[in-house]
Amino acid sequence: MPTTEPPRIELARLPTPLERCDHLLDSPPLLVKRDDLTGTALTGNKVRKLEYLLADAQARGARRVVTCGGIQSNHCRATAIASARIGLGCVLFLRTDQPEPATPTGNLRLDRLVGADVRFVTPEQYRDRDGRMREAAGADGYVIPEGGSNALGSWGYIRAVDEMATQWDAPPTSVVCATGSGGTLAGLMIGLRRRALDIPVYGVAVCDDAAYFTGVVERISAEATHRWPTLPQVDAADVRIIEGFKGRGYALSTPEEMADIATVARRSGLLLDPVYTGKAFRPLLHDRAQFGARPLFVHTGGIFGLLA
Ligand SMILES: Cc1ncc(COP(=O)(O)O)c(C=O)c1O
Repeated sequence: MPTTEPPRIELARLPTPLERCDHLLDSPPLLVKRDDLTGTALTGNKVRKLEYLLADAQARGARRVVTCGGIQSNHCRATAIASARIGLGCVLFLRTDQPEPATPTGNLRLDRLVGADVRFVTPEQYRDRDGRMREAAGADGYVIPEGGSNALGSWGYIRAVDEMATQWDAPPTSVVCATGSGGTLAGLMIGLRRRALDIPVYGVAVCDDAAYFTGVVERISAEATHRWPTLPQVDAADVRIIEGFKGRGYALSTPEEMADIATVARRSGLLLDPVYTGKAFRPLLHDRAQFGARPLFVHTGGIFGLLA
């Protein structure tokens, strides 16, 4: 099992708690991995990925990092804040079809506060994001792909599995997470297989579909085993994507979704966000039997989206 872990810098407050939430679902008891508690500004799953990605940026002598996402991207906000913390510049390509808001809210407000170089692009321009990012990076910049989802970033959740394995009394019957760019899911799957834990991981799609995410996980896993040959390769047949919870689409909400977020908040004090965790939690509320007697929900953060 031991594989040399790539270098990382410490950004997240780890370990995050693994909590039992007995009163949230009537049954079964639910375990919640509180990755919304990786930090205050640096909250959420992206911080775990950035520990590796920014270590690599520093090792390569980068002076700035360049990344991209939706206008309220948690990944972009976390990258901007972490870059400020370690003294790197940060360029963000943010996708929107609306004019720039006069008063930025949520994640965008924090991007601005820490002085990120924010560049708005239309959904059409965003299709060429990789070219735009490479150009903005120049010779001394470091490009982080959308969502930080590549083989190096997946180490964040390979390591999170090791962390959880020291926290649970007995392994859960399933793991459930929101899936937006696929890196968290890939990392969890590789991490569990690496410890020979045969636990199904369900990625709840908040955009795209099962075929797309299966391809993403396969690609990340193949890249990871290429770079770190003792890591296990994840089988496409093991990728479990739950469809049907996108609602009106990425970053769009329905009254039913918002009502569920309120129900969870009132019953447990857990704050889910409208873009990712609020959608990903719904199968646990409405179709929980498929997850077995001890499901584990990875709370991947997103609080600023709730405030946007
Ligand atoms: C709060 C939150 N949860 C879940 C996800 C999904 O993670 P991933 O992009 O690794 O699929 C994201 C980002 O996309 C996120 O910001």
